[in-house]
Amino acid sequence: MDKEEFYRLIESRKSIRKFKTEMPPREVLDRILNAGLQAPSGKNRQNWRFFVVTGKKREEYLKYSQKSWLGIKDVLQKRLKPSLYDFTERFFFTLGDAPVLIFCYSHNSSEERYHTSIGSVYMAVENINLACVVEGLGCCTMGAPLEIKSEVDAFLGVDQLPEYKAGELELLCGLVLGYPDHNPPKAPRQLENRITYL
Ligand SMILES: Cc1cc2nc3c(=O)[nH]c(=O)nc-3n(C[C@H](O)[C@H](O)[C@H](O)COP(=O)(O)O)c2cc1C
Repeated sequence: MDKEEFYRLIESRKSIRKFKTEMPPREVLDRILNAGLQAPSGKNRQNWRFFVVTGKKREEYLKYSQKSWLGIKDVLQKRLKPSLYDFTERFFFTLGDAPVLIFCYSHNSSEERYHTSIGSVYMAVENINLACVVEGLGCCTMGAPLEIKSEVDAFLGVDQLPEYKAGELELLCGLVLGYPDHNPPKAPRQLENRITYL
C-alpha cells in the first residue's frame, strides 16, 4: 500500500448503519479481530476482550438495543433534525440488520491507570474499524450499550467470569458490522482549534 492509499483508507472510513443480511465469512471476522489484536496497549497488557454475537443470539439482543434507545433518545431529539432522528430510532430497533455484533471490554487492573486501559481498547477498536474498510465491510461503533451495561454483561454471560466478579471487566462499546447497504456522506471534520503546534 502506498502513502496515498493509506490516507485514503483512513479518510474513507465512516459509520455504516444499514447492512445486507449476508453473513461475512468466519475467516474475514478472524482477520478483522486479529487487526484489533495488533493495536498498541499500555504496558503491552493487551487488555481488550471481544465477544462476538451472531445468529439467534444477535436476534435476542435487539430487545436490549431497543431499551438502550430509551436512555439516549431525549438527548438526540434535541440534537438531530427529525428525519435523522427517525433513521436513528429505526437503527436502534433493527441495528440496521447488521449480522455481527462485537462487544468490546477492557480488563482493567490496579497495575495500570484506568484511562490507559480504556484507551488501549479503543486503539484496537479503530484497527477493527479500518480492517472493516479493507474487507468491504461497514461498521458502526456504539456507546449505546453502555446505557444498559449490566444487562449486556448478563446477556453475554460475562458476569459469570472470575475477572468480572473481581470488578475488572468493563464494557466499553459495541460494534455492529456487515456488508454495507447504504453509502452515507462522510461526516464533515472540524479543523478549527483541534490541533495546536507549540
Ligand atoms: C465511542 C463512540 C460511541 C458511539 N456511539 C454511537 C451510538 O451509540 N450510535 C450510533 O449510531 N453511532 C455511534 N457512534 C458513531 C458516531 O456517531 C460517528 O463516529 C460520528 O458521528 C462520526 O461519523 P463517522 O464515524 O461516519 O465519521 C459512536 C462513535 C464512537 C467513537
